[in-house]
Amino acid sequence: MKSTAGKLHTRFNRFAGYLAACCATLHLGCASTQTSTATPTTIDALQQISNWERVGAGVWSTTIGEMDGELRYTELAAERPRLEALKRLGEAEFPFDPDEIRYEILPDGRLMVRIPLAPDEKIYGFGLQLDRLDHTQRVMTLKVDHWSQGGGETHAPVPFYVSSKGYGVFFDTARYLKVYAATGNRKDATQREPEFDRNPVNEEERGKWNAQPRGDAVEVSLLSPGLEVVIFAGETPLEVVQRYNLYSGGGTLPPLWGLGFWHRMHAHADAEDVYAELAEFKEQGIPLDVLGLEPGWMTRSYPCTFEWQTLRFPDPKGFTQSLLDDGIHLNLWINPYISQKGSLHEPLYPLSGSHTVWHGIVPDFQVPEARAIFTDHFREEHFGFGVSGYKADEVDGYDRWLWPDHATFPSGTSAEAMRQTYGMQLQKALYTDLFRSENRRSYNLVRATSGAASAYPFVLYSDSYDHEEYITGISAASLGGILWTPEIRRAGNAREWLNRMQTVCFSHMAMLNAWVSGAKPWSFPEVTDSVREVIELRMRLLPYFYTAFADYHFEGIPPIRAMVLEDGDFRIRAEVEAGELDGETNPYEVDRVFEKNDQFMFGPDMLVAPFYGPRYATAREVALPTGDWYDFHSGAFVGNGEIIEVDAETLGDRIPLFVRGGATIPMLKDAANNAKAVSGASLVLRHYGEGEGFVRIYEDDATTFDYLSGEYRFREVRIREDGSFEETIQGAGPALYGDIEAVEKMTRGQR
Ligand code: GAL
Repeated sequence: MKSTAGKLHTRFNRFAGYLAACCATLHLGCASTQTSTATPTTIDALQQISNWERVGAGVWSTTIGEMDGELRYTELAAERPRLEALKRLGEAEFPFDPDEIRYEILPDGRLMVRIPLAPDEKIYGFGLQLDRLDHTQRVMTLKVDHWSQGGGETHAPVPFYVSSKGYGVFFDTARYLKVYAATGNRKDATQREPEFDRNPVNEEERGKWNAQPRGDAVEVSLLSPGLEVVIFAGETPLEVVQRYNLYSGGGTLPPLWGLGFWHRMHAHADAEDVYAELAEFKEQGIPLDVLGLEPGWMTRSYPCTFEWQTLRFPDPKGFTQSLLDDGIHLNLWINPYISQKGSLHEPLYPLSGSHTVWHGIVPDFQVPEARAIFTDHFREEHFGFGVSGYKADEVDGYDRWLWPDHATFPSGTSAEAMRQTYGMQLQKALYTDLFRSENRRSYNLVRATSGAASAYPFVLYSDSYDHEEYITGISAASLGGILWTPEIRRAGNAREWLNRMQTVCFSHMAMLNAWVSGAKPWSFPEVTDSVREVIELRMRLLPYFYTAFADYHFEGIPPIRAMVLEDGDFRIRAEVEAGELDGETNPYEVDRVFEKNDQFMFGPDMLVAPFYGPRYATAREVALPTGDWYDFHSGAFVGNGEIIEVDAETLGDRIPLFVRGGATIPMLKDAANNAKAVSGASLVLRHYGEGEGFVRIYEDDATTFDYLSGEYRFREVRIREDGSFEETIQGAGPALYGDIEAVEKMTRGQR
């Protein structure tokens, strides 16, 4: 509660704020006459936000300045906020004293919002940042682009962060956003670090001089007349993320086949090459659900025609169907830029932007007619006869590849807003006009997305290829309602091949994208058995993983989670390299901190710690959260709240996997070749630890959107200590799997 002094303070500030707002509204005239005293220089003089509006249980929003004419990410969300699910999470208190969040509209048109931080508070998120999760004391520009190693630009610069204190902040506007996270401290900040003389005459007076003192707030700024800020409460960081995902429309639920194994063909492959490749997969006994065609399936690319190259694929319909008959889904590479040689060029020319990209015109999906022309063509030419989905490439940057910031579009959408949302606009067009309207679920790839995107069945990927960063990406995705595949393209040796294969099999999309290198799962014969084993394990885990996705959809719980979401007090481990004075490389003696984000939770109960890089290729540490943990493969008790060492030799070249004590993992009894074979397949339940067990298994038709109208069910299984079990069904939806054939008590060894 605010004190009387606080209230007086507030009144004064409102007045000061009012003056500033007047200046801001008329800022052209005002700026020219502005004196130094008219511009706030202290925190108290910044404007307060008095109009927080509750927009869902535990969710509040405010609009600062003028948002008419601005594009919000939520306007492009796939589905409406899941308000009922938010209600089930419960009401919560606004996590700030409302006076604490302040803003300023500067004379140059820049809008700034300041959100206070406690001294020990950490912030995580900002989308697909591949180098770390903790962004405290960082400056970032959130802009859609190729991954830029820490500057903020990335394929999914989601303007949302989660605080270790249990709240989240989302900046809901399609603008480039500059974030100063606990840096750039103000002169009247309450948490100023003490000054030290860096060069004392008396050595004993030398303190820990710090070139980068910590700030006491997150301050973000953007060039815009307005901004919407959304705040999410939560008892834990996970609950905050759940609220963010539910507010964004809930998590996506992929078709079951999307969670199987994916492989992409060479860009010049033809139908015969595809059949030959499929035969080899069968011969090698490697499961396969999705086959991807790269640019050569079209008559021309880049720019694209989206018309079949019949010299390579003489009968696209028959070809697609023959694959489907075999349980294989076809995914087509595209970028959205249109060739003069294609039938879409003429109708879309007037409905496209002022500049070309990759030689092609850029359709303006904000114009309904443009979107309809585009998606009608896709329906007729591919999706309508069974193509399963797309890989939407090149929607991310660089500047020299995309349109300039001064480009114009027929809808009046600014080039900047287009840049921040083009990937989302393409997802919306395909999702709404094709997948939803044909009642056929899909799973796809995209190279750019942003805020409020959790309900889209699109998985991000990158060209950057650093294995450690790719593992970090798996965790980063879970903090911003996005999905990520650490796809495999090539490897320098068999060990790297196996390690990358094991990582990708525990990600949102298990995909081999080795079309350039020509590598196949069996390219390194010495590890082929281990590669097959991990792909088969992914297939066997489908009932568990698919249920985790159902929890994403219904409750907003990410199917794969960063460890910071696992346990409120889980600390990100870091390696610190002490700063040593160096005139060229380190003139300010800054310590270098390397975060360790190399493990994550797969579903609710499995901890994955892949081997990676040359340094951790065959041995590594794993930090176990509090609670009993068991080795997935052997059932051996491995520890509780401690750091353990694992090595590939002891694990028989399997991926390090651990299960929480008491958990039950539902699995297929045998690995299926693809999702088609899953229907009616028998289950086994693996129970780890002592005592009784309980597990819920989600089922639906696995391919349509009927689950949105209640066509699903949960099988709830209670396991007694002696291994017998009792099953009850909740819901009237269709069955997906067959009977539970066995309960495997996995516990070996003593706690
Ligand atoms: C790249 C993409 C690759 C591949 C290629 C085709 O941009 O990342 O996966 O699809 O384009 O030209």
